[in-house]
Amino acid sequence: MISIAIVSQKGGVGKTTLSVNLAHAFARAGLNTLLVDADPQGSVGLSLTRQSRLLSGFYDFLADPSIPMERLIVPTRLETFSLVAAGTASDYDAGNGTTGAHLARVRTFLFNASTRRYDICLIDTAAGLFGVTNDIISSADAIIIPQQAEPLGIRSLPKLLEGLNRLRITNPRLNVLGVCLTMLQQNLIESAEAASALRHLLPEEMLFQTSIHRDEIFIRASAKGLPVGVLENGKNAETAFDSLRAEILSKLAKSRVTATYQPH
Ligand SMILES: Nc1ncnc2c1ncn2[C@@H]1O[C@H](COP(=O)(O)OP(=O)(O)OP(=O)(O)O)[C@@H](O)[C@H]1O
Ligand SMILES: [Mg+2]
Repeated sequence: MISIAIVSQKGGVGKTTLSVNLAHAFARAGLNTLLVDADPQGSVGLSLTRQSRLLSGFYDFLADPSIPMERLIVPTRLETFSLVAAGTASDYDAGNGTTGAHLARVRTFLFNASTRRYDICLIDTAAGLFGVTNDIISSADAIIIPQQAEPLGIRSLPKLLEGLNRLRITNPRLNVLGVCLTMLQQNLIESAEAASALRHLLPEEMLFQTSIHRDEIFIRASAKGLPVGVLENGKNAETAFDSLRAEILSKLAKSRVTATYQPH
């Protein structure tokens, strides 16, 4: 199982949208996919599982790691797609927790998930790189960083790069898959310019070629906690996540080759 956390310092950049739709793209491609809502205010899969707020979830496990995985995992209509909700203990020491406090339990969670034949585990996190999110970054195999294609996005770039370096120190085996531009508006000059500035400023391998465009269908889908593809007229918006999935799989394959050929 490869665990991939979707993280960002800033809130509202499209982490949840990316997590839900990317997980759906992996699952549609036949990979056994587990989507974990690790945002204590999270609403992943609100309608995939109507009662998601009442379910035991990730934070219940952090509070009590004796809870068996089968009580946490919620199936969806798609056989290859399962969820773990944030849970009822979601105010449990959440974002304010001391970094490192939950490390062992986050690792146990990922280990337990990995014994259940998942290929991919995507983890949607709360904004910020501290507390539980930091412990997830320290435990995951890889991360993806969504970044809004807006002028403010460029201003936060130095902070982002600094943050990335710190993450690499806490988890040297962390595979930083890259930055994915979100809410791109090609027809809006400020957005297009911000995107091209980011392409210019970030090392090529750090930026996904696939960008997610701004489209109101994402707002409709996220209001329902659903992947866009299951909405009427959502098929078009869904294709970007198929490209992103392909890019991720190719990056993961390359990193495995590099790892194999690394001299000892
Ligand atoms: N590509 C897009 N086009 C239009 N709206 C979008 C797009 N992506 C996300 N949104 C909307 O922007 C808002 C924030 O997105 P989202 O919840 O995915 O961000 P987030 O990073 O998870 O936020 P938070 O940090 O609060 O968890 C939501 O209302 C969502 O519907
Ligand atoms: Mg979110």
